[in-house]
Amino acid sequence: MKKALIIGGYGTIGSAVTEALKESYDVITAGRTQGDVHVDMNSIKSIKEMFETVGKVDAVIFTAGAAYFGPLEGMTPENNLISISGKLLGQVNTVLLGTEYVNDNGSFTLVTGIMMDDPIYQGASAAMANGGVRAFAKSAALELPRGIRINTVSPNVLEESWDNYQELFVGFNPVPVAKVANAFVKSVQGLQTGESYEVY
Ligand SMILES: NC(=O)c1ccc[n+]([C@@H]2O[C@H](COP(=O)([O-])OP(=O)(O)OC[C@H]3O[C@@H](n4cnc5c(N)ncnc54)[C@H](OP(=O)(O)O)[C@@H]3O)[C@@H](O)[C@H]2O)c1
Repeated sequence: MKKALIIGGYGTIGSAVTEALKESYDVITAGRTQGDVHVDMNSIKSIKEMFETVGKVDAVIFTAGAAYFGPLEGMTPENNLISISGKLLGQVNTVLLGTEYVNDNGSFTLVTGIMMDDPIYQGASAAMANGGVRAFAKSAALELPRGIRINTVSPNVLEESWDNYQELFVGFNPVPVAKVANAFVKSVQGLQTGESYEVY
């Protein structure tokens, strides 16, 4: 059976992606505190150790990546670094270090988010990271070797997360996590590359 590594596989989105893929893939979950292997995407050493432990896989899927939410007025470079080192570099570095571990014709699927296209109050730092991830993947798709594909999924706020985020996302229409998981399935099992799947 093909192997899929899901970083953040125990989270809200990651659990749904694991469920959606488990019939077709041997799913390996990774996280800082939970999962089959432990990894902190913010650490290059930890990313390297994860790939050495897991070995070759057919799909690397990201459903993790911290971002800073806060008003632009008063936002410090240190605050903003949370999104840069978490959501942006965490995913990009894992692609850079993980490409040699992806089998021919395998794939990467990264996660972004709606606020890069539909801005919200306190969302500038997260939007910056999301836009960077999308632009990186679109460009990297041209150069990845051996038929390896790369796409991103941009979820709207989830119905399952609505209680936590509704004050930030006034007037948004939340989407069910199963719909977002299906975009990951399309990326992993389809043929497209360089795409951003917007589940809005
Ligand atoms: N929920 C939403 O409405 C929504 C909407 C749009 C976009 N997104 C984006 O989708 C992603 C996942 O969201 P979610 O709601 O599913 O999050 P979640 O429920 O908090 O799950 C995140 C998962 O990632 C792992 N994780 C966090 N930081 C990590 C790190 N540095 N290294 C490795 N694993 C890490 C966590 O496990 P450990 O704590 O064990 O590490 C957890 O399993 C996030 O980037 C979020 O911005 C979410």
